Amino acid sequence: MSVVPEDLRGELEADPRTGEIVARLEEELGAAGDSAALERVRVSFLGRKGRVTALLQGLRDLPPQERRELGRLANLLKSFLEKELARRAEQLRDREMEEELRRERLDITLPGRHIPLGSRHLLSSIIEEIEDIFLGLGYQVAEGPEVELDYYNFEALNTPEWHPSKSLQDTFYVEVPGADYRDVLLRTHTSPVQVRVMESTPPPVYVIAPGKAYRHDVPDATHSPMFHQVEGLAVDEGISMADLKGTLETFARRMFGEDRQVRFRPHFFPFTEPSAEVDVSCNMCGGGGCRVCKGTGWLEILGAGMVDPNVFGYVGYDPERYTGFAFGMGVERIALLKYGVPDIRLFFDNHLGLLEQY
Ligand code: PHE
Repeated sequence: MSVVPEDLRGELEADPRTGEIVARLEEELGAAGDSAALERVRVSFLGRKGRVTALLQGLRDLPPQERRELGRLANLLKSFLEKELARRAEQLRDREMEEELRRERLDITLPGRHIPLGSRHLLSSIIEEIEDIFLGLGYQVAEGPEVELDYYNFEALNTPEWHPSKSLQDTFYVEVPGADYRDVLLRTHTSPVQVRVMESTPPPVYVIAPGKAYRHDVPDATHSPMFHQVEGLAVDEGISMADLKGTLETFARRMFGEDRQVRFRPHFFPFTEPSAEVDVSCNMCGGGGCRVCKGTGWLEILGAGMVDPNVFGYVGYDPERYTGFAFGMGVERIALLKYGVPDIRLFFDNHLGLLEQY
């Protein structure tokens, strides 16, 4: 297919100079498939040193008659070329634009992709909730090591050598080259943090210590060899059992609901005297009795008591001047009770179907 229309070409070919340019034009313009190539064609014909430009510039050296004839042809060629280049440029632009649109096509009616958001583990949120309640009561958060010394885990907590919790069946001991047999262990509760805090801080102290604890238990619905506790300790002048009751009642109501009742049952811990186990009225049935509270209407949520003066002896606190209370709760147990989760192992399976519910 020729580029230059038949009649115009006939006219231009009458002179070999314009005829040659037309031949080149046919060749080059026919091959220019994109805007950049088209621009190269424009430069090679109409640019400052282009063929048509050169032809027009050469006119002035010709005799008048020839100048007029060739001038007419050259101008015909030039104006054809300008129009043709503009037309093709627009065509190519349209085509390139269409291609680009096709390439970058977006279907804005497609539904968006769901990016799953992570969330806090239920146990972490419970710990945070407990922390918030006690921070609100003026407590500070303390931490201690999970690999602990017998001294902090047992001895300074007034726990005698023969106490059953020190047996191999209850405690994970850690073998450390150079250390004495059974000196190093995985802490069995968070109570050693009490001793560490008192050892390094003069009274008064108001702290809670959340963290992991380990016991040699076979996993079942209510036991896990690793679990979480939150320890609490308040030491000041004139602290009494009434303060302990008031504090735990406040905690239980904020955690389980405003109309909860709290009761203390006498118990024994080596490091508190007197000691108690503390129950909260069942938040599932309101105290009438159900599956979660096993028909009793009460849920045991923690152990507590007045700090034994012997413990003060280990940390250098004056037992004549200071008294204190301590408590310790199992985080998994609180979560099980608060949400009616049937099995502690569900927390550690990390099944998203469960975790995403909280
Ligand atoms: N440490 C005890 C336990 O693990 C709980 C407790 C803490 C009891 C503080 C009294 C005072 O069972």
